[in-house]
Amino acid sequence: MSARFTAQRISTVTVLGAGTMGHGIAHVAALAGHDVRLYDISQEAADGGRSKIAASLDKGVSLGKVEAGVRDAALARITATGDLAAACTGADLVVEAVPEKIELKRELFAAVDRAAPPDALYATNTSSLPVAKIAGAVADPSRLIGMHFFNPVHLMKLLEVVRHGASDDSAVAAAVALGERWGKTAIVVKDSPGFASSRLGLALGLEAIRMVEEGVASAADIDTAMKLGYGHPMGPLELTDLVGLDVRLGIADYLSDAIGPAFEPPELLRRKVADGKLGKKSGEGFYTWVDGKRA
Ligand code: CAA
Repeated sequence: MSARFTAQRISTVTVLGAGTMGHGIAHVAALAGHDVRLYDISQEAADGGRSKIAASLDKGVSLGKVEAGVRDAALARITATGDLAAACTGADLVVEAVPEKIELKRELFAAVDRAAPPDALYATNTSSLPVAKIAGAVADPSRLIGMHFFNPVHLMKLLEVVRHGASDDSAVAAAVALGERWGKTAIVVKDSPGFASSRLGLALGLEAIRMVEEGVASAADIDTAMKLGYGHPMGPLELTDLVGLDVRLGIADYLSDAIGPAFEPPELLRRKVADGKLGKKSGEGFYTWVDGKRA
């Protein structure tokens, strides 16, 4: 019997959410040769995501990493839209990358289920929420799995594929094979809070924030400790600025409930988020950022 889902059958890819992760996923899918529909709640927001892809491809060309013809062909394959039904019609894969609010994701997938073909594969890019609960919003939960990408998506090599109790084996295998076609190395992880990557990454990030709070060392020195002492490409506090303090706080709140007090968010993190210091995107977090660069 042939597999229900295969990577080879995935041609058209619909990405829901044109923010940091969504536009990054659309970027790699278009470079891999897929026709891509990039959806957001308004045409303007979707166009904004497409412009960011264009800027990143331009940078790739200027660095000599992307040929100009490849950039032009990739961009020509991306349609930005604010119309969900149009985005989902004819999709072979629908990847959701909207904010980390479970009800928002469930409502969106319920609407996708009314518009997408019955044989389309569904994936959520959630970094920690229960995939089974998101899958419960569609008529056939076995077709929905987790495909967790990393920021910046076009440079990070990992794809974390999340299998929940009802996942179809061929859906998991198709996601792994597709990730490899997109130049990623895929790992398969059980649907457990924070999966493998967010649980470990957050443990380090939260401890680093507690160390700033306690005055153990400056943010820059803590980051240098991990870069030069452990070979991390980026320190945990600079990484928190890149990911977004609000995003990390949301994951910490969820994991402290789901796993235990080790993930209780430090007061300093709460205070910075309340003050609008969200990291690189707001211009200030643990560092100051000007035009996307550390000041
Ligand atoms: N297109 C193509 N190639 C590009 C490019 C572009 N737009 N921009 C840069 N590159 C290439 C560069 O030419 C360079 O190539 P070489 O290695 O061949 O020289 C390479 O990509 C690295 O680029 P840079 O030199 O500009 O950047 P860097 O060396 O400072 O690395 C980084 C940047 C990859 C972001 C690195 O700092 C890093 O790995 N940081 C950690 C990021 C991380 O941990 N992300 C995960 C966050 S957690 C998450 O996302 C999950 C979640 O759920 C919240």
